[in-house]
Amino acid sequence: MIYLDSAATSLHKPPQVARAVAEAISSLGNPARGAHGASLAADRTIYETRRLLAAFFGCPRAENVVFTSNATEALNVAICGLLGPGDRAVTTDLEHNSVLRPLYELQDRGLRLDFVPADARGRVDWADFERLLVPGVKAVICTHASNLTGYSLDLARVAALAHSRGALLIVDASQTAGLLPIHMEDMGIDLLCFTGHKGLMGPQGTGGLCLRPGLELRPFKRGGSGVHSFDRAQPREYPTRLEAGTLNAHGIAGLKAALDYINAVGRARLYAAEHSRTLRFYEGVLRIPGVRVYGDFSQPLRAGIVSLNIRDEDSAAVADALAVDFDIAVRAGAHCAPRMHRALGTEEQGAVRFSFSPFTTELEVDTAIEAVKTLAAE
Ligand code: ALA
Repeated sequence: MIYLDSAATSLHKPPQVARAVAEAISSLGNPARGAHGASLAADRTIYETRRLLAAFFGCPRAENVVFTSNATEALNVAICGLLGPGDRAVTTDLEHNSVLRPLYELQDRGLRLDFVPADARGRVDWADFERLLVPGVKAVICTHASNLTGYSLDLARVAALAHSRGALLIVDASQTAGLLPIHMEDMGIDLLCFTGHKGLMGPQGTGGLCLRPGLELRPFKRGGSGVHSFDRAQPREYPTRLEAGTLNAHGIAGLKAALDYINAVGRARLYAAEHSRTLRFYEGVLRIPGVRVYGDFSQPLRAGIVSLNIRDEDSAAVADALAVDFDIAVRAGAHCAPRMHRALGTEEQGAVRFSFSPFTTELEVDTAIEAVKTLAAE
């Protein structure tokens, strides 16, 4: 199979990730729940992973890296822990439902919510950020890059504008963590939500959020923490405040192995490989008669995604043909990004999304281009 669905999850992971999970499953106890060797080994693995993530994302304190089961949970913790009825927030048309749905629920309960619109190529206009970021807005919640077009936002610029108007910046880095440069302190990100299983190449069931020190979030869930067991309330200190229940130590051990791999090879090198495959595919399909490619490919830093349609063919039918006739895996449909599809005019048709990884080969890209050519000629 030619796997071109890395925006959904990374399939080709460094082999040490699976080895680390297998080893952890038969050796790690429950972290922070005992003083025996197996529990302490789990604790050490988790702390070391926090430390690696803090260094990787420019988060000043390892304790401010909180583990969740995925980016969706991290975004729910961030959004619902910070915002409530009567607050005001700004988000964008680029967002995934993991941002939109928590915000819509809060909106129904009295949050004032404004959207920075996307144009027909999926881009934002900075004048809209300027216009909507009025004093009184508590937070801007935005993706680092669209999961449909790959178009990325300049986070440092959003942060500077948000802070100048007294607002915080919450970032959804689902499509960029592990590949694009992200440094919370340098960029001014207050809350960074990430998944472990996409660009970071770790196991599914891993993810988290990094908080700027000093930020107070209401816990999203409450329960066992291994400390202060006689207190009625959830401990106030991070990360325990937001981590009730047993952590996914086995998955986190795999994520640690993935981070070690990324640090050894170099994030920039991995990004360069992915980006060159993305551009090769884009240039290969751009001028095929009947093919319409969505988005703006002039950005040097973007997610490795190319979405297209073939004439008015249903995107799911094209994805099925790619799978059945060419053994190529892509994702069609709406990609949980309803506002972005509306902006592109693809609500009905959906789009066929090809997404790349640092391990995608040129031969795989060229085979996929030929497949699109064949389908477009039919
Ligand atoms: N959010 C993931 C995607 O865009 C699953 O495909």
